[in-house]
Amino acid sequence: MNKSEPKRYLVTSALPYANGPLHVGHIAGAYLPADIYVRYLRLMGKDVKYICGSDEHGAAITIRAKQEGISPKEVIDKYHEINKTSFEKIGMSFDIYHRTSEAIHHETASDFFTNLYNKGMFIEKVSEQYYDEGFNQFLADRYIKGTCPKCEHENAYGDQCENCGSSLSPTELINPVSTLSGNTPVLRTTKHWYLRMDEHQAEIKQWLEDVQATEKWKKHVLGQCRSWFQEGLLPRAMTRDLDWGIPVPLPDAEGKVLYVWMDAPIGYISATKALTDDWELYWKDEESKLVHFIGKDNIVFHCINFPMILKMHGDYILPTNVPANQFMNLEGDKMSTSRNHVVSVDGFLAEFEGMEDVLRYALTTNMPENKDSDFSWNDLQARNNSELLAILGNFVNRVLVLTHKYFEGVLPEIPSDDLETVHEKAEEVFAAMQAMPYELDAAIHRYEFRNGLAEVINLARAGNKFLTDTEPWKLIKQSEGQTAAILSICLNIIARLSVYMEPFLPFTAPKVKGFLNLSAEDEKAILAGSFNIAAGHKINKPSLLFSRIEDTQVAAQQQKLADAKAAREVAAANANETTGEAVIAPLKDTIQYDDFIKLDIRTATITAAEKMKKADKLLKLTVEVGFETRTVVSGIAEHFSPEEVVGQQVLLLANLAPRKLRGVESQGMILMAEENGKLVFVKPDNKMGDGMVIS
Ligand code: MF3
Ligand code: ZN
Repeated sequence: MNKSEPKRYLVTSALPYANGPLHVGHIAGAYLPADIYVRYLRLMGKDVKYICGSDEHGAAITIRAKQEGISPKEVIDKYHEINKTSFEKIGMSFDIYHRTSEAIHHETASDFFTNLYNKGMFIEKVSEQYYDEGFNQFLADRYIKGTCPKCEHENAYGDQCENCGSSLSPTELINPVSTLSGNTPVLRTTKHWYLRMDEHQAEIKQWLEDVQATEKWKKHVLGQCRSWFQEGLLPRAMTRDLDWGIPVPLPDAEGKVLYVWMDAPIGYISATKALTDDWELYWKDEESKLVHFIGKDNIVFHCINFPMILKMHGDYILPTNVPANQFMNLEGDKMSTSRNHVVSVDGFLAEFEGMEDVLRYALTTNMPENKDSDFSWNDLQARNNSELLAILGNFVNRVLVLTHKYFEGVLPEIPSDDLETVHEKAEEVFAAMQAMPYELDAAIHRYEFRNGLAEVINLARAGNKFLTDTEPWKLIKQSEGQTAAILSICLNIIARLSVYMEPFLPFTAPKVKGFLNLSAEDEKAILAGSFNIAAGHKINKPSLLFSRIEDTQVAAQQQKLADAKAAREVAAANANETTGEAVIAPLKDTIQYDDFIKLDIRTATITAAEKMKKADKLLKLTVEVGFETRTVVSGIAEHFSPEEVVGQQVLLLANLAPRKLRGVESQGMILMAEENGKLVFVKPDNKMGDGMVIS
């Protein structure tokens, strides 16, 4: 155990933006590891509070509101409830799921800003910022995109590149465009308050190096932090020109709100305030341990910005560790709700009813603890069928069924020589039983949840092997005592499993405890290592813990992803043909004005049209030019039917020398524009008289 055991723990998971449904990548990143950690600490009887909630400010919310055509308030109310429910369904055991739109949060964040302001932590600066003239809005953060100056990723946001994790300013972006309109923004002056991160860099760097030395931070987290320190921190604006957020509490700050990354992490504090009157113990007492669980895109904010804000304030403790996870992909491709390449929590549970723990298990065994990982349906199926079902479920079921079959669910007194005989064969399994809690504890405190879960499942594996090796179903004919001794060992393994699996498999654990009829006292004894299922202890009849996932179910899910991919490709192709990326032809050689005025272009109306015989591409058109009627042969039959073109007013090159096409004399040429193979008529905006001159 730890030399300086903390008195209490405050554990946070990143407050998700209330702007869209949660997918399994989110869960595996910042929520499931925290939930396992917290459930384990509770199991060990620790004083722990687990904080989460919705992040309800910032561009993520207002942009979603624009997309859905509803107000920001409607967006947050909708998605707060959706996310809260999904988290509950998958067993996240938050002590509170708060909201940053609550008054207590506005007050807390506002006070924080004022406190830092009064300490002189901000520089007030007027500067040029990007502005979208169409939308009358300054463009910060997610309102502006461009190429990352550090890694050249093309879709970096104004505050951060999600590819390399760098924090950015909009003015650093190469080729910036407004995400509101797609336009290139202009520069306008505006005033903001910048946190003096440059001045306080040394303190934060020192803190980080000190804390990581004793706490063993993850390599990828430390690596990112150190590279930012190396580059040198710059003052960063903590205010924005927006009408959605927490108003800047200064007299001359009309129309300005706090930067979302200034307010959101303070949300952890407001939520703790809302949870308990003892909130200060968790935030201000040196013997409390603060741990932030996040995804890798949030590292800079939790390892540098927020600690700096806490330090500048002075009354608060800083995080002890920030065990950020990397990203989880899906079938080899980035998970994305907008691209519909995603497995959502609700979607999964709708199709795999009652399989909460299967999902938790598959996500934990694949958790992106130190590098990006991949979720695949084949893997989920294999984890379920060959691990949960074949190892854990099978072991529990076999032992309980045999106990009922041979002893009607109540173990008899076992003669001591039978006990001895069996114990001699049980050395390996006893060692596994003994070691598991220690190995698990060590793994949890190193934030190695994959390994922790493997320790638990390995004990079930050892139990299964013991059962297979000792073959009680054969032994029963020779010795009831030895059979009972074997089952007794197995039942004790199951008892331990039922307790220690709880952080990972909280839906399954109570079922197993129920099978074994364990009381709260028994559980305590198990944790103390002193429990033994004694003769006379009544075991309940088991039901199956897990069910098979069939190949057809997997294929259906894979097909869904393939269908979504095909739909994306069709949409992309269509976008290219109509509006998207037109192929621009190169410019022709320069001509003189005199060349141009030689062209006699007139307005004209197509009055009749027919297909030409034996010529798929040609239409024979009758064209009214006002002063006369012409016949024009036009190569547009593959693009327009005769009916479509009759009545169209067009532009006619009227002095083109006549020429014969398929025996018909064509007296002029109709002007067309072409975009990626699609033709449109060039014509006056409003219908006008025929024969008018174009110049
Ligand atoms: N909403 C942010 C995101 O999804 C995370 C906010 S974490 C907090 O990336 F610390 F700011 F709350
Ligand atoms: Zn980048």
